[in-house]
Formats: sequence, structure tokens, C-alpha cells
Amino acid sequence: MVARIHSLGGYIYEYKKSVANPEVFWAQIAENFHWRKRFTKVLEWNFSNPDIKWFIDGKLNITENIFEKNMYTHADQLAIIWEPNDPNEEHIQLTYMQLFREVNKFANTLKRLNVRKGDRVAIYMPMVPELTIAMLACARIGAVHSVVFAGFSAQSLSERINDAQAKVLLTADGGFRGNKITPLKQIADEALESSPCVETVVVLKRTKTEVNMEVGRDIWWHTAINGQSDECPAEVMDAEDELFILYTSGSTGKPKGIVHTVGGYMVFTAYTFKNVFQYNAGDVYFCTADIGWITGHSYIVYGPLLNGAQSVMFEGVPTWPDAGRFWDIVDKFNVNQFYTAPTAIRSLLAQGMEFVNGKKLTSLKVLGTVGEPINEEAWHWYHDHIGKSRCPIVDTWWQTETGGVMISPMAGITPTKPSFATMPLPGIQPVIVDNEGRELTGNSVEGNLCIRFPWPGMARTIWGDHERFRETYFGSFKNLYFTGDGAKRDEDGYYRILGRVDDVINVSGHRLGTAEIENAINAHPLVNESAVVGYPHEIKGQGIYAFVVCGELSTGGEEGIQKSIRIAVEKIIGPFARPDIIQLVPGLPKTRSGKIMRRILRKVAEGDASNLGDITTLLDEDIVEKIIDGALVEVKR
Ligand code: WT7
Repeated sequence: MVARIHSLGGYIYEYKKSVANPEVFWAQIAENFHWRKRFTKVLEWNFSNPDIKWFIDGKLNITENIFEKNMYTHADQLAIIWEPNDPNEEHIQLTYMQLFREVNKFANTLKRLNVRKGDRVAIYMPMVPELTIAMLACARIGAVHSVVFAGFSAQSLSERINDAQAKVLLTADGGFRGNKITPLKQIADEALESSPCVETVVVLKRTKTEVNMEVGRDIWWHTAINGQSDECPAEVMDAEDELFILYTSGSTGKPKGIVHTVGGYMVFTAYTFKNVFQYNAGDVYFCTADIGWITGHSYIVYGPLLNGAQSVMFEGVPTWPDAGRFWDIVDKFNVNQFYTAPTAIRSLLAQGMEFVNGKKLTSLKVLGTVGEPINEEAWHWYHDHIGKSRCPIVDTWWQTETGGVMISPMAGITPTKPSFATMPLPGIQPVIVDNEGRELTGNSVEGNLCIRFPWPGMARTIWGDHERFRETYFGSFKNLYFTGDGAKRDEDGYYRILGRVDDVINVSGHRLGTAEIENAINAHPLVNESAVVGYPHEIKGQGIYAFVVCGELSTGGEEGIQKSIRIAVEKIIGPFARPDIIQLVPGLPKTRSGKIMRRILRKVAEGDASNLGDITTLLDEDIVEKIIDGALVEVKR
């Protein structure tokens, strides 16, 4: 078992050790795992190429570390506690032994479908146990899973399938979310019209929605697994073999396939899970994220299961049947650690105490947040009303690319401050640099957040585009990994994340590239060009504000075009990327060289144009006045 830090003194001691000799530090943690062949060297790296390798020559399988390694002690322990969307449906519990058998069965199914080590398997599924089973089955046989969040559109799904050249797609007839059904198979069918690389589609029956099954390509899940053995030897993987690809948005239009590898990701997620949440054997842990995002990968599936934890997986949404759903689940399973996003907290806070009063919430020991900065009001509400002022809050800062938590309190150990992610975990060396890349040393500084030294869970590349990986993360500041976030280090040395400094926005904890939304808007036949920025939104953190230049208005007029743009974005990306505000403008503020001055648009969207800074480089200064006049929010001049 991975060692757990117990005190602030222990943290300081471990942190110092991890900086003085990172290789010894991580090797000691890695020793706790089951390696088929021990690694011969801990780390090789350079950030200029970049090239990062951890646990060199080590051979292992991550599922052996979840199952075989713990089977003597954990066979009958619960691994997954699954709560369905509808509270009237029975929940499902799987012990480690039961989960192991299901994983093996599905691993054998994949093999029979001709999936081999290194092949990519796309997964477009609702939050059901079979999703976890599918991911682990891929890991068991060395196939690379690429989970696509079930809120993405057909076009986004197809793009991701094609980029990874997946040969199998796992999906379901539909997915329940609140009182809605997402027709997953129908969306998948549409996606596959432009994804010829997929040879086989396995379809889980969940909503009993009528679906089309294509002969020779589509097979029902229950038919496919029928008769498969529940024993399947683990494929022996190199520590640096790929475990999965997960797509995320960047500042340019095309999503990036972030690649994580087996050994480092395993060590990092297991270590961070245990220490951040201070998980103890027997605790029940509940992360509300969707497995379609990195939080679900690292902290519903891999981190918890590598620790033999009991992980709650919830199919539904926080507000259905009512806004007390999370708290009912906490009481139902006596959840000890609860992990969610600030946007969820804000939306539940807005519904009032009626949905909290009457819930016990006495089992809770630790509360976590992730995905975006948490404002003080939400922090205090969470702390006082959910944690009853006795549960530490861990505000965990990390990214798809970091694989696991980087800067965060360790529950009950690190003194917290509302809206501060506090201190780096052992092994993590953050630095703050100015725009010229000069390191800002000491306390009370603010700038670009970078990391100076590799950590085992870091992404190794962007699938099929290593040059983009270099440029995006290592191209801005020499020999530093650049996070894309701004941060401040306060007078106590505590880190506060200030949000993205690139053209990425964070909407309800979903990361979206503004360029991606612009591309979708521009695809509309009546749109000439557009610019998208984020603006402060009470519930979502950031809302989406689109400035759009149209050639002419169709018969529906302004409202008609706004509506059809929203539909277009929904179709190209997914409903969660729909703009909140669409302002039709006569032109965009551009410099003489043709670059859109987003700074000005951001100011307008924020409702404060009192200090626009230097606008003399604009081609047409009048346009700014016109944009402010037509703004759909109140703008201070
Ligand atoms: C971006 C990464 C990591 C899991 C979910 C999001 C923002 C993340 C925090 C936090 C302030 C945060 C950053 C980061 N972010 N956690 N605790 N405080 N901001 O993963 O989609 O890869 O997004 O989310 O801006 O860069 P992601």
C-alpha cells in the first residue's frame, strides 16, 4: 500500500525529500506496486524536446495492481457502488472479485473482436458500471481507451474516433440524465458515417430505446460477452506504453488527444488519491464527475481502485428529481469523502437550504472541489452547510495533462484558505514566471503558472502530434511546463489559481477552446466571422459570449439567427458549448495586421469598458463604440 502522510510535519518532510531527490522519492512510492519486472532507472527527461520517461524498463499491468495484488485482502470489499439516475431503480454494488470477473469477461470479448495490444477503443457511454468495466478491460489487454464524454455531438465523436483511428466503438442504446434520454446509439450511427476506421460497435442495452443495428458491424453487449471466460491473463505492458487517450480543448480549434502511459499514471493517481483525500480502508468515496473527463478517469476509476477503495459512481444529475440528490446519495451510502465541482455547489446553493435541511450528512469527513476556481461564497456554503464546519475542503488544482492533483491541501493536514489551492503536493515544483519567462521568486507574486520538474502522471505527448505537444506546453517558457493558468503566490506562499491566460474558457467546469466554438459558429451559412470570449457567470463560473458578424439576416431576423447559431454549436460540439449570449455586431475590433483584439471584447462582455487600454492600433476605432452600444449586458464606460 502506498504510504500516507499524516501530519503537516510529515508533509514538509516529504516535500523537501521530493525536491532534493525526486527519483528516490518516487521510486519508494513505486516500490509498493506489483511490477512484473522492476524498473531499472526512475527517470529520463528533458523539457526542450520534450521527452519524459518514468520507471524505465519496468513491466506491469495496471489491472494486476487493482485486482491480483489486492485480492487476498479485498476480494469481498466493494469496489463500485453504482447509483442509477432514477432513485427508484435498484443500485448495484460490485466487489473487487465481481468487478475482476466482469473485466476479464469483457477483456476476452474485446480479444475475440480482434482488439490487440496498442489498438484504440473508443468509448461513448453513459455513467454505468460497464463503462468502468470497459476501460479496465482495455487496460487488461493493453488496448488504449479513448473515452468520449457522452454529451459530445456526432461530429465531435467522429473527429475523436478518426484522430485516434479507433477500430472498436463501445456505446449504449441511450443514456439517462435527469428526465432526459440521450440517444447515444443514434448519435454514434451518425458519427460513424464519417468514421470508416470503426469495424465493430458493441451496444449496451440501458434505456431500451429503439436503435438501428447494422448487420456485420453492430453487436449487443450481452450477446458479445455471452460465454466468454471470466479469466484473462494480463498483458505485460512497458511502463511507458500508452494507457489511454483523452481529448481536451486547447487554444486552437482542434482538440488535443492527451496521452497518458501506464506506469507513471498508476503511481501518481494512486499516491495523490490516498494523500489528498486521506482515504482510509473501509471509507466510502464519492466523486460526482463524469468518467468522460479526466476527473472521472483518475478519481472515480484508477486512483480509488488502485487503493482498494469503495468508489461511488452516479449516473444522473445533481438536480433531478430534486436538488437534494447528491445529499441523498451521501446519506444512502454513508459517503466519507465527497468530491465535486464549484459549479455544482453554486447551482445547489442557488436552490436554497430546503434541499439540504433534513439530510444527515454526518458520514462526511472530507469535501473536495475541482475544475475551476471556487469563489468564497460557494466555499463557505459548502463548508458550513454540507461539511457542517467539521470537514476540511480540498480545493484541488490540476489538468487533463497533469494526470492527477498537483496543488491542493491534504485533507485535515494543510491549513486551508477559501479559494486557495494552497500548496504543491510532494513531487510537484511549481514556479511563477512573468510574460518574459523570468521566474518570480519569493512570496506575494502573480504571473504564469509553470512546473519546473517532471512528475510521473504528466502527459507524454499529444496523440499523433508531438510537435504540438512541445509547442503548447514547452514552447512558451524555456525548460518549463506551462499550464496555461495564471496564479498568485500570496504572502504565506499559498497558491491561488486565477484562471486561464490563454484562449480557453471554463464553463461549468468544462474546458472549451474559444476557437473551437468560433469554428462551429462560423460554419453557419449566414455568419462571416465571430469572436468568442468568456464572461463571469454566477452559476457556470464563465459563460460564453459570442460576437458575430453576419452578412445578412434571414427571415427569422436577429432572434432567428441567434437560435440557429445555438443549434449549430450544439450539433458541432455539444449542448454544453452553446453560447449564452450572441451579439450581432457590424464588425470585430481588429488591429491593422488583422488580429482580433480579444482584450476589448472580454472587457465588453465583463461589462466594464471604462478602461480599454491602448486602442490606437485598431484599424477602425469606431467599431468599439458600436459594439458597446449594442452590448447585451450592461456596460460601464
Ligand atoms: C483547467 C484544467 C483537472 C480536472 C478538471 C479540469 C482549471 C482545475 C482548478 C482549481 C482553479 C482549476 C484550470 C486548469 N482548474 N482545477 N482547483 N482551481 N482552477 O480538467 O478540463 O483539463 O481543465 O481547469 O484552469 O488549467 P481540465
